[in-house]
Amino acid sequence: MTVFFKFILICFAVLAFSFVPSHPSLAQDLSVYRNPAAANRVPLNSEQQKPTAATLQNTLVEIIDLNRAAKQAHWNVEGPLFYQLHILLDEFVEDYRQDSDIVAERLLAIHHSADGRPKVVSQTAQLPVFPEGYLNDYEVVDVLSQRLNTVTQRVRDRINTLDEFDLVSQDVLIEVERDLAEHLWMLREFQQQNALNSTSQTQAS
Ligand SMILES: [Fe+2]
Repeated sequence: MTVFFKFILICFAVLAFSFVPSHPSLAQDLSVYRNPAAANRVPLNSEQQKPTAATLQNTLVEIIDLNRAAKQAHWNVEGPLFYQLHILLDEFVEDYRQDSDIVAERLLAIHHSADGRPKVVSQTAQLPVFPEGYLNDYEVVDVLSQRLNTVTQRVRDRINTLDEFDLVSQDVLIEVERDLAEHLWMLREFQQQNALNSTSQTQAS
């Protein structure tokens, strides 16, 4: 390497180093972002925040549980209704994925962390352990329907509670309830007497 090229390389190195901020100036720059007053810029006061966060957190773990239960059933369902349920349950899974994200981010919006860790879900959702292994299609419909019914009733109670504390979080739970009630309806339709008659008529013809 010629002396000239060495000189050029050294010049580049010196120039690049001059753009790297030294530690004291970096610390000084970060300090301009700090503002203790920002901690008070949250939409709810402490009396509203605590019960609101509790309703959102309880709903979050239940929706995550429903997500895993529906996926478990999507995989393990067997029987004549396998394909219909296999497809339908993946739609439920996607709804629960979106709903859990909305509920979790509302928690953050009211300045409270969201806890969706598997251990926390299993310890706090207060729902029965989902059955293991293969499941008949009629069992899947019944087990999921019971689970959905339980969560729907709890969410409806929380909607009433939030009337007093936060109407925006109440609105979030109303959207969640809309999905839950729709899923409940779809499962209920598999269990109606007319549905059973039409199935037996189809099989007889
Ligand atoms: Fe799948």
